[in-house]
Amino acid sequence: MTHQEIRTKFLKFFEERGHKIVPSSSLLPDDPSVLFTTAGMQQFKKYYTGEADAMKDFGSLNTASIQKSMRTSDIDEVGDDSHLTFFEMLGNFSFGQYWKKEAIQYGYDFIVKELKMSLDRITVSIFKGDSETPEDRESLDIWKSLGIPDAQIILGERKDNFWGPTGNKGPCGPTTEIYIDGIEIWNIVFNEYFCDEENGKKHFVPLATKGIDTGMGLERLAMIMQGKTNIFETDLFTPIITEVRGKNLYDYEKNKPSERIIADHLRAGIFLISDGVLPSNTEQGYILRRLLRRAIRHINLLNIPDDIYKRILHVLAYSIYGNIYPELVRKEENIIEVIETERNKFTATLGRGLKEFAGLIENHQQANEKNISGKEAFGLYSTFGFPIELIEELAKENDVTVDVSDFQKETEEHRAKSRAGIEKKFGGHGLLLDTGELKAGNEEELKQVTRLHTATHLLHASLRKVLGENVHQAGSDITAERLRFDFNFDRKMTPEEIKKVEDIANDAVGQDLPVVMREMPYEEAVHLGALSFFKEKYPAVVKVYTVGKEATSTEPAEVFSRELCGGPHVTHTGEIGKIKIKKEEAVGAGVRRIRATLVDKN
Ligand code: ALA
Repeated sequence: MTHQEIRTKFLKFFEERGHKIVPSSSLLPDDPSVLFTTAGMQQFKKYYTGEADAMKDFGSLNTASIQKSMRTSDIDEVGDDSHLTFFEMLGNFSFGQYWKKEAIQYGYDFIVKELKMSLDRITVSIFKGDSETPEDRESLDIWKSLGIPDAQIILGERKDNFWGPTGNKGPCGPTTEIYIDGIEIWNIVFNEYFCDEENGKKHFVPLATKGIDTGMGLERLAMIMQGKTNIFETDLFTPIITEVRGKNLYDYEKNKPSERIIADHLRAGIFLISDGVLPSNTEQGYILRRLLRRAIRHINLLNIPDDIYKRILHVLAYSIYGNIYPELVRKEENIIEVIETERNKFTATLGRGLKEFAGLIENHQQANEKNISGKEAFGLYSTFGFPIELIEELAKENDVTVDVSDFQKETEEHRAKSRAGIEKKFGGHGLLLDTGELKAGNEEELKQVTRLHTATHLLHASLRKVLGENVHQAGSDITAERLRFDFNFDRKMTPEEIKKVEDIANDAVGQDLPVVMREMPYEEAVHLGALSFFKEKYPAVVKVYTVGKEATSTEPAEVFSRELCGGPHVTHTGEIGKIKIKKEEAVGAGVRRIRATLVDKN
């Protein structure tokens, strides 16, 4: 049975039983408390708590989905037969409509009747109860009534058979799991309590509206249905592994872990980029960087062409997920560009870094020293861009350890120092670096970000000149590689308008206009017509950045752009280099986004 058939069967099964099919949500949830979407229930959280009304939003109290999910807890395990970072989860959900009897019956019917699994391959588990919440007797009885013998029912503990709450409060409850051939494939959660933690003690209060949340791993189910012993032999992975092998003559058997790391990490990386993540040194961006750099190292290890990611992307976009995630096709070029940039950055230092590492190991061996210090690890990180986890992996291969907590201390110290340096240079608070709008991890990146930041002001002013004074900034995000600028406008820009905006901004660059910062009372800034963006309250004295000639006693002002802003900015527009608008797209109702990069003047 192909993964396509499994998908269709699952969705059809639940659709026929009154479930509204809901598309997968993004890997980046609209929930600041988590980095990634880790399960199907993520997008439905608000329906369990009653904050939103499923009937209104879906026309049904029951939904089903196949959700893109990302879990990083097992990232170091990838390479064996069963661990993945990115995976898909099949799930059915109910927000107060059906309960244990139906949920278990559905699980049983799908596995036994629909997939025709024989009963002797099935084991189930139920929660055996503890001092906090009682045994799930009801589920036990339901399984028995369906003919599952006692010997195939496991009484599980809290760590295996109780889900949630995510965070320290929220809906939670006992679970029942379905195993086939000893492999857990389906977790059925009965959200029946609201848990609240007070002074370290948990209180479980029965929920007014009980909910069902289930999750079944697609890759694992495909493995079972396709009679394989590991997920990398399923049709979700064989086309990728075939690409990795290509005409390359490394020892396939011996290098399985590397093949799998490349396959898993590139697949996950590609999906993350398609949902808008870019490599960086923090949060989601750091996970992406880690995945890509580790994949690049293993690509290097197997000596395979380093544009393999293009072929893997092609296989994912057009073959495996062709009609399922069309964004892979739509964003193909953008994904290639992001990986290529990261690859170029990392391959430039990878070889030298590995040499440095080998030297380090040699010194350690001579001194009979088994530990890489935080300082040494920090050197590899800051000079060669080795993520700490990669250093740990290299160390493990060489039978030495890394002092990670010392590394973290070292990183913190450097961060504090560099921050102090940056603040000194740009004059203290108000830096947009503090708000996360500008993303720079070191001096080098900061230089690029600063140029792009001033470019953003030029584009903002140019947009207003071309599209009208009603255009206002709605958001911005700048990394060392590119700028993203959101503004309110209700239609697509024409190619001519885009060109005009680009030309006007580049004309300002060509004139090498001075960029001047002046602190002044807020009222004066408003009076001068400085554009402001953030809605929060401004301090009494604000910084105003003006591009253009300031008024003097003899010469009237020729202001190109004037904005309230925390900086940093270049001192003259000529430092920016040529601005290139790469894309103009919609991001929401009445909000457009442009992406632009700098074409170096050198
Ligand atoms: N939310 C449950 C899980 O992820 C179904 O296991």
